[in-house]
Amino acid sequence: MSRLRSIIERSYSPYSGFRVASIVVDEEDRAYPGVNVENASYGLTVCAERIAIFNAITNGARRIKKIYVASETREPVPPCGACLQVMAEHGSPDMEVILVSLTSGAIRRYRLKDLLPHAFTPDMLGRGKK
Ligand code: THU
Repeated sequence: MSRLRSIIERSYSPYSGFRVASIVVDEEDRAYPGVNVENASYGLTVCAERIAIFNAITNGARRIKKIYVASETREPVPPCGACLQVMAEHGSPDMEVILVSLTSGAIRRYRLKDLLPHAFTPDMLGRGKK
């Protein structure tokens, strides 16, 4: 919680004022932070979760074991659909998604498969198989 509190200070969210922090933990128990980064061209905004996942991959993570998502809403917010899809690429259906409210202290724990059932996954591309 205290790490998420310090990371959220780096959120670049002047347009929405909605700050989000994320920490990805890989199979080797290394942690990688991310915050949402907005843009004057609004559609270019990237969520904290994807920044954290891309940060993890960039820094050598292979598979991700869990992800924390922290917001300042009283009820923790779930990741958007785009971020869930990116989680499905780099984590297993059983990976933990832990939602945290930095204002109320509420914590909600999910498995990725419960937030994104029927995910589109790399094996479905077939690579030549029928
Ligand atoms: N946002 C995230 O970073 N993660 C979420 O799970 C929900 C939304 C960001 C995107 C944007 O900067 C702001 O929150 C409002 O949508």
